[in-house]
Amino acid sequence: MKSSKQKIIIENLIKIYGNNPRKALKMFRDGATKDYILERTGNVVGVADVSLEIGEGELFVVMGLSGSGKSTLVRCINSLIPATSGNIYIDGEDIVHVSDERMRELRRTQVTMVFQRFGLFPHKTVAENVAYGLKVRGVEKKQRRQKALETLEVVGLAQWADYHPSKLSGGMQQRVGLARALATDAPILLMDEAFSALDPLIRREMQDELIRLQQELHKTIVFISHDIQEALKLADRLAVMKDGYVVQLGTPEEIINNPADDYIRAFIQDVNRASVIKVGAIARNPNSFMLESKLVKAAMIEMSAEDREQKYVLDGDGKPVGLVTAARLAKALEVGENDIAKAMARDFPKVDKTTKLEEIFPLCQGGEAIAVVDGKGKLAGVVEQSDVFANMVN
Ligand SMILES: Nc1ncnc2c1ncn2[C@@H]1O[C@H](COP(=O)(O)OP(=O)(O)OP(=O)(O)O)[C@@H](O)[C@H]1O
Ligand SMILES: [Mg+2]
Repeated sequence: MKSSKQKIIIENLIKIYGNNPRKALKMFRDGATKDYILERTGNVVGVADVSLEIGEGELFVVMGLSGSGKSTLVRCINSLIPATSGNIYIDGEDIVHVSDERMRELRRTQVTMVFQRFGLFPHKTVAENVAYGLKVRGVEKKQRRQKALETLEVVGLAQWADYHPSKLSGGMQQRVGLARALATDAPILLMDEAFSALDPLIRREMQDELIRLQQELHKTIVFISHDIQEALKLADRLAVMKDGYVVQLGTPEEIINNPADDYIRAFIQDVNRASVIKVGAIARNPNSFMLESKLVKAAMIEMSAEDREQKYVLDGDGKPVGLVTAARLAKALEVGENDIAKAMARDFPKVDKTTKLEEIFPLCQGGEAIAVVDGKGKLAGVVEQSDVFANMVN
């Protein structure tokens, strides 16, 4: 056992396909390339010495071109294929060396997989499909049905419970596949190109759905994709694979801001930065006033000394309650108003720091600095129109 807060730990994982993996492994360790090993031995290096740690509750994306080793990597995580060398721990348990029986139990209760082509049984109803994992686990019929209906509710398909899958569209069938995985309550979801067979529009809908579900469910998700937009949209962090190796690991912002090499640069060249970068990443130090401690006149002097046009006013908890501008303050003084609470504008643009830049364009129009707040509603920073535009350029 290994103790760690990490949900999945992969250490020096190597997977070689073919009839002489030991020989190929030795060559690989001696420094031979994938191509050379293939040529000499006919063995294929699927995953080449990958080490990764995936945190509990993380939506971790593995991205890369066809043949880069993505599927091989996830199949090793649930032992659908055995690793040639290296260690994989789930909740600290070494799964490369567990018994088959224990691994089956882990697949029933801990690590579940959502397939690309739905994998639904055509002769079973939607509810029976969703309940299937529970049946395998020996849950009794009434309870299974109950759980299946609850989970179908979660993915918005409750009214389809008693239909057969063929009556549903591709997107709906994929939701059933997702519901089947969710119904098991397994904390780890492996999704190998789960949305790739869907039409672009439905696919985007499913991506939004997954993000929404994840906010409620906090699963540990390993999501495989060869689509960079999808990867950047979904990922908390992503690993980019090439020829079996992980060539870069980071948050979407880190990858888009600092691509490690030309392979990754080629991937991201057409990516719309504003759909990736979160407003929290570009927000400036807010430099605000406290509501209780400022008079209009003092605020004006301070703002003029700092050469600032606008500033946020915070309550005792650090939450923004108003916005003052130099013009507004001057106007207040003109009518003899020295209370900042009366002079400030209570209607101001406010966004959560995790909001993507493209979503705040409409708020930039007014010229007011946008208040960026953290999860508790406290002011974390401000952004102005010029900050937003400066960060859209590649
Ligand atoms: N069963 C197998 N036998 C032999 N070689 C295999 C097998 N499965 C995969 N490979 C090889 O291992 C390498 C990695 O394949 P893998 O399927 O993991 O890639 P992938 O990134 O998932 O690709 P794709 O995007 O096409 O699904 C490839 O070179 C592939 O040809
Ligand atoms: Mg694959």
